[in-house]
Amino acid sequence: MARTFFVGGNFKLNGSKASIKEIVERLNNADLAENVQVVLCPPAPYLDYTVSLLKKSQLAVGAQNTYLKASGAYTGENSVEQIQELGAKWVILGHSERRTLFHEDDKFVAEKTKFALDQGAGVILCIGETLEEKKAGKTLEVVERQLTAVLAEVKDWTNVVIAYEPVWAIGTGLAATAEDAQDIHKSIRKFLAAKLGDKVAEEIRILYGGSANGSNVASFKDKVDVDGFLVGGASLKPEFVDIVNSRK
Ligand code: G3H
Repeated sequence: MARTFFVGGNFKLNGSKASIKEIVERLNNADLAENVQVVLCPPAPYLDYTVSLLKKSQLAVGAQNTYLKASGAYTGENSVEQIQELGAKWVILGHSERRTLFHEDDKFVAEKTKFALDQGAGVILCIGETLEEKKAGKTLEVVERQLTAVLAEVKDWTNVVIAYEPVWAIGTGLAATAEDAQDIHKSIRKFLAAKLGDKVAEEIRILYGGSANGSNVASFKDKVDVDGFLVGGASLKPEFVDIVNSRK
């Protein structure tokens, strides 16, 4: 079956009303490939503002994180219901910056994933190995460990999109080669087929993330297990349109 191409823009801790307006207007006015789903993930304070600017049904908004409780004494956190009230349909969970800088472990990411899915949000679930782990030949071991934690919590993966993001490629300008990404995506799909069955594994989107940009995405064009990109830095720039249109 054909999986709908998916491109996420993770603005991280960047942006202002002015810059977000510029990004969204560029997408509104661009000739975007119709069969691509685009999810913009601004910092939480700009979620509803970003939603208010969207003029195409293929564009949606996601948060960069949510907590695993609906409410309570959790200073600084945002709940799934709150981001949904602002119009966000998606949330990125398990990003390596959350795992590393904010010490989120596999179990915590898995619990947050379950909670967000139960609330009806789509989850962009990030997995990926560090350079040290890659050098030690542990890439698959790491991504399977990260997925296993989520498998223990989540039975229905319909609203999950996986983003394979090797940590060494994030923000470094050194993207994985399309061939390496394809090999790893294929292995991830095979692993999920063994755990969840062929149908679920065939339907799930697996994105590549890590220094994807307007120049290198064309090389992923014929990679059958790469179903889109999760883009950081380049999502803030005009080349984001080229990434969205890379399968055109
Ligand atoms: O979520 C996005 C990834 O961290 C990739 O970031 O495109 O700036 O390398 P990057």
